[in-house]
Amino acid sequence: MANQAEHSRRSFLKRVVEFSYGIVGLLVGVPAIVTALAPVATRRKYTWIAVAKLTDLPDGQTTRVVIADKNPQGWYTVPREKVIFVKRNGNRFTVFSSTCSHLGCNVNWYPAISEFICPCHGGVYNADGKNIAGPPPHPLTKLQNRIKNNTLMVAVS
Ligand code: FES
Repeated sequence: MANQAEHSRRSFLKRVVEFSYGIVGLLVGVPAIVTALAPVATRRKYTWIAVAKLTDLPDGQTTRVVIADKNPQGWYTVPREKVIFVKRNGNRFTVFSSTCSHLGCNVNWYPAISEFICPCHGGVYNADGKNIAGPPPHPLTKLQNRIKNNTLMVAVS
C-alpha cells in the first residue's frame, strides 16, 4: 500500500516536472519564434515605380530624377519623394540611391567632374557610385531596375 502511494506520488511529481518543462519551453520558444519571424512578417515588399521614359534619359549621362513613393508608417502611409540618379550606357541602366552611406544625407551629382558629392561631410563617390573620399564607408546603393513599355522602372522598398 505504501509502495503504491510512493509510486503515485512519484508519478504525480514527474508529471508536474514535465508540465513545468512544457511551460518553460513555451515561454522561451514562442517569443523566440515570433522574434525570428518578425522581419519576414514586417518586411516591406519591393514596389516598382516608374522613373522616366527611356527617351528622357540621355545616353552616356547620369540624370537626377525625383520619384514619388509611399512611406509606410505603421498603419498608414505617407507620400514622399526620393531622389535617385540614373546612369545610362546604351540600354544598360544603373540606378543609384542618393542616400549617402555615411549618415544619410542626399548626395548631388556634378557632371563636370563626374562625381557624387555629399554636402554634409564632403563624402565623394565616383561615377560608378564607389566611395572614393571622405567619411562614407560604402558605395552608393544601387537599386534594381527594369524596362517596361519603354519606361525605366525602379524597385523601392
Ligand atoms: S552624410 Fe554624407 S559624408 Fe556624412
